[in-house]
Amino acid sequence: MEIDEEFKAHYARPDLEQKIFAALHASGKDTENLIFEDLAPVDEIHIGGRQATVDLAERLGLYETMVVLDVGCGLGGATRYFASTFGCDVYGIDLAPDYISAASALAARVDGGFRVSYQQASALALPFSDDFCDVVTMMHVGMNISDKQMLFNEVRRVLKPGGKFGIYDVMRVGRGDVLYPVPWASNPSTDFIAPLDEYLVCLKGSGFTVISEIDRWKFGVAYFEKLRNVTLEQGVSPLGLHISLGVTAMRQMVNISTLIKQRVLSPIEIICKLSK
Ligand SMILES: C[S@@+](CC[C@H](N)C(=O)[O-])C[C@H]1O[C@@H](n2cnc3c(N)ncnc32)[C@H](O)[C@@H]1O
Repeated sequence: MEIDEEFKAHYARPDLEQKIFAALHASGKDTENLIFEDLAPVDEIHIGGRQATVDLAERLGLYETMVVLDVGCGLGGATRYFASTFGCDVYGIDLAPDYISAASALAARVDGGFRVSYQQASALALPFSDDFCDVVTMMHVGMNISDKQMLFNEVRRVLKPGGKFGIYDVMRVGRGDVLYPVPWASNPSTDFIAPLDEYLVCLKGSGFTVISEIDRWKFGVAYFEKLRNVTLEQGVSPLGLHISLGVTAMRQMVNISTLIKQRVLSPIEIICKLSK
């Protein structure tokens, strides 16, 4: 599998697993008796954290017998939430090897971990058979992928007829330059941020019918506001996104929160259904 050098450098996270366990210790967690909620401050790498995942799952109507695939799963926070809360069998794929190995190590230590499995793979070549799953989720991943039509065609291929696809991506909603680094890119070469219209056209082209689309801008602004206030009052918590976002984490967070506040970008959720 060929991975773009810029992408590799942006998502390199040496010793991530050790850093997460050290931070869990530092924040007083018993790492021999972890529950999936303990990891939420570090393993939900998207605007709104766990709450955004809860909202997406609710709108997708997940239930026990479903097979769910999370495309670009990162550290797997959403996968473990889906498995532990609804009892689904959940698969996560991600192109970044450091995230996949840490995701597997975390799953081995928490409840519900036996229901999840991870593979390093590209969203554009999913390692699953046709009609493999009932639901596909994708949170904050499309910004790294230039060919969204190819991406949605691949999602369509692995989804069963009538299956649902839940997207929660950052999209362009206004004019203005993107300030780098942002959480998904260190420079423009791996940034393929797109407007909602591009998503909608490509989804239609792949046979999806949109059930709902929600601009979660206010939710995003409130999330960054709260994070800023908590950090000002209590300092940087040992267990936080600065671990999962790597060495430029603070600059990434400042840039993305500014771009959201100025409404250049916004986190948007789309729920759609396959009509094949
Ligand atoms: C901002 S992180 C979000 C991770 C996770 N979805 C979450 O919300 O916690 C973006 C993720 O997308 C993954 N990604 C980007 N392009 C990808 C591709 N073509 N195939 C698979 N994963 C990809 C990255 O490796 C990274 O883990």
